[in-house]
Amino acid sequence: MPKIVLTNVTKRWGDFYAVDNLNLVIDDCSFVTLLGPSGCGKTTTLRMIAGLETPTSGKIEIGDQVVFDSERGINVPANKRHVGFLFQNYALWPNMTVYENIAFGLKNQKKYTKKEIDEIVKRVSHVVKIDMFMKRYPSELSGGQQQRVAIARTLAPAPEVIFMDEPLSNLDAKLRLEMRSELQRLHLTTGRTFVYVTHDQMEAMTLASKICLIDNGVLMQYASPLDVYNYPNSLFVADFVGSPSINFVEAIGTQAEDLSMNFKIFNKYDVIFKFNSKLNIKDFRKLEDKEIEEKELEKERIKSGKSQVEKGNKDVKFKVNIMTVEEENRPELTDDDYIIGIRPEAISIVEKGGIEAEIYSAMPTGMETTLRLKIGNYLLTGVVFGGITYKLQEKVRIKFDSDGIMLFSNKSTKLIGTGTIKI
Ligand SMILES: Nc1ncnc2c1ncn2[C@@H]1O[C@H](COP(=O)(O)OP(=O)(O)OP(=O)(O)O)[C@@H](O)[C@H]1O
Ligand SMILES: [Mg+2]
Repeated sequence: MPKIVLTNVTKRWGDFYAVDNLNLVIDDCSFVTLLGPSGCGKTTTLRMIAGLETPTSGKIEIGDQVVFDSERGINVPANKRHVGFLFQNYALWPNMTVYENIAFGLKNQKKYTKKEIDEIVKRVSHVVKIDMFMKRYPSELSGGQQQRVAIARTLAPAPEVIFMDEPLSNLDAKLRLEMRSELQRLHLTTGRTFVYVTHDQMEAMTLASKICLIDNGVLMQYASPLDVYNYPNSLFVADFVGSPSINFVEAIGTQAEDLSMNFKIFNKYDVIFKFNSKLNIKDFRKLEDKEIEEKELEKERIKSGKSQVEKGNKDVKFKVNIMTVEEENRPELTDDDYIIGIRPEAISIVEKGGIEAEIYSAMPTGMETTLRLKIGNYLLTGVVFGGITYKLQEKVRIKFDSDGIMLFSNKSTKLIGTGTIKI
């Protein structure tokens, strides 16, 4: 099975960069999800790898074959790339039975005997569990069953790589969950490389061996789901993954001699943030400035170069959403300040110690309760497990009981490190 390598792949229409200098290695047999907000360039990326869209520049390799290279003028057509494609709006032939729908692509290829086709159709329909419906027409199937026929049809010609573009978006929540687990099984049993597009972060988290998070055509982070969740490299990534969303808190302060950080948070409490590893802020700031400078130089280079086109859809700094009851009394943050990121599950309700908070709202689902907690003017989202009932406006005490508290730079929005908070 092949590995897919993208080198400096760019796709632009005029000065609009749908995909901006993407470098990506999709490992053999992996399950990679392309995740990002609507319009960020996921479908375009997938279509370029599959050969359905021509990149403006760059190089794409599938296995040991270069399928696209703008410099060498190589562009292998889609049907020679040995990839399978499953679109969001898969269309089954309404006048053909399930069996005929799955066999259709194989018959077209003219390289299989009737007996071989029969064997393949039976095998793939068994894998996706629709072998009992072979004689039915699509209109006689539920949405999820139709989806499975579409998957079987994609699998039938045994593509080495399978691309899926939001294949579950037409299904209801329960069926989606079921199909997700089926897809995971399918990935295991077929041993193929799966590249899967979704804007649903839950789907991306649960399915992928690696998530490729894109924003405005730019790769933001490429890592395993848990790494993306626990060590998001920027505020954007931290905010995009996780449900309920991460809490952001303004932090103003300095580093002490012992490398711990002294902060004031919620406009009120003095806290100590301790990094999990030894980290000197001065070193971080030096690297940060260097990176910012390099980016500026690159922009200047593109502006002055004749062959390059300035990006019309500018990359803007992520605007962090800090939840408060009222807008007033908010500190003005400077480039020297920080943002602390606290996942909802890092907040625990305690009997003694910690700080006081008021229950602003409580949403029990049975298994867990999502709480909104008010601390002065600030609101935090917490999750507590079990069916505990909280009264609105009840006073509770909270602690941040986790070594996964994140510290970000307000200047570059980059992650500085993770650690603990002591109040
Ligand atoms: N043929 C085209 N001409 C000009 N712009 C295009 C063209 N095709 C796509 N775009 C633009 O490129 C950007 C990326 O499109 P793409 O379809 O890759 O987004 P996406 O990440 O798949 O979004 P969604 O989640 O909504 O499907 C979009 O802003 C889109 O408007
Ligand atoms: Mg799309």
